[in-house]
Amino acid sequence: MISNLKYMEGVQSLKDVDVTGKRVLIRVDFNVPMDSHGNISDDRRIRAALPTINYCIDHNACSITLVSHLGRPKGQYEERYSLRHIQKRLERLLQKRVVFVDNFEERKDEIATCSLERVFLLENIRFEPGEKKNDPELARKLGSLCDVYVNDAFGTSHRKHASTYGITDYVDTKVAGFLMMKEIEAFSKALEKPMRPVTLVVGGAKISSKITLLKSVMPKIDKLIIGGAMSNTFLVAQGYDMQESFYEEEYVPTAREVLDEARKHKVKIYLPVDVVITNDIEHPIDVKVVPAQDVLETFKAVDIGPATVKYFSEAIGLSNTVIWNGPMGIYEIEKFSKGTFKIASAIADSYAYTIVGGGDTADAVEKAGEKENFSFISTGGGASLELLEGKILPGFEKLDRKEDAATLS
Ligand code: 3PG
Repeated sequence: MISNLKYMEGVQSLKDVDVTGKRVLIRVDFNVPMDSHGNISDDRRIRAALPTINYCIDHNACSITLVSHLGRPKGQYEERYSLRHIQKRLERLLQKRVVFVDNFEERKDEIATCSLERVFLLENIRFEPGEKKNDPELARKLGSLCDVYVNDAFGTSHRKHASTYGITDYVDTKVAGFLMMKEIEAFSKALEKPMRPVTLVVGGAKISSKITLLKSVMPKIDKLIIGGAMSNTFLVAQGYDMQESFYEEEYVPTAREVLDEARKHKVKIYLPVDVVITNDIEHPIDVKVVPAQDVLETFKAVDIGPATVKYFSEAIGLSNTVIWNGPMGIYEIEKFSKGTFKIASAIADSYAYTIVGGGDTADAVEKAGEKENFSFISTGGGASLELLEGKILPGFEKLDRKEDAATLS
């Protein structure tokens, strides 16, 4: 059976079609983090979309319309989620005039007018109640804005929404942008014919959010390193008293199943041997390092300890492929960030092919100053997780396929 990655590799890309003189609509993922002053704090996703936009400009598309969401508004206007906040940064990065369109239906004729002097940026598509419902009427209206639909929103490609999925029913030519193809290529390298041993490093708070991954990925990996608060659930499953640490009680049996599954596939599991603990996360004055089985009463584990860093780093150093998703502790708080940053450096220093997924993890890699030392940093959070789980992402599902083009020619 063809793998999900092979299926997604088989879609046509922007390179396979001629955009000259065509109206092009590009679904991008400009869902970028903002600080409390409304400044964009990480514009990686905007930068990642530039090759696709520039290609359409350089190949004389008639008009270019960008569609994105920002945040999770409830189907109506909310100032803080307006894509107006993106307009200036995009203009600077693209070095082109960006015309903001708050009502695309009213300005349909303008969008259809050929000019390479500007690109259009539509208002947050999630202000439309039909977007998340994959409403055919909204999909049709969006489709009517273009001759060529390009999906380059990898970060949103796990969503079946009107602008990522439904629209493909209303456009004749629909292809993937360069970012989408680059992401698939990078994950294929790690999962299709990887250099073994393959190590998956998972962290973050909840085992519940990664359960499908943990159950499905075993045949593809050799080592599984588990850190972050989710490792507490595994430690509880092994009989440790984690005291006040966050863990998911209802998932303790699931953690046992994961450990059994790993044994069945001869995957070696690495769990923390020591942890950083505190009795007050907000005011961390009393902070100690203890063996994982000796968490003190009223204390909670908030990071992996130095012995665990060494233990995990050794396993990473002996790997040829490392996939990382999820921080090792509450890395946003300086006192609890060492574990995550040191693991970032261990992965960066290894000779392995290294790939990172998830917004927090990518952010941690950047903060650790290791951004340049990873083979690939995915722009996808949930999307990269679903891809690792073996799913065909809806954003790729209905795009034109290479084999169809071959049949026609
Ligand atoms: C993300 O940040 O993961 C994507 O932009 C998708 O956003 P969503 O989880 O709100 O659909």
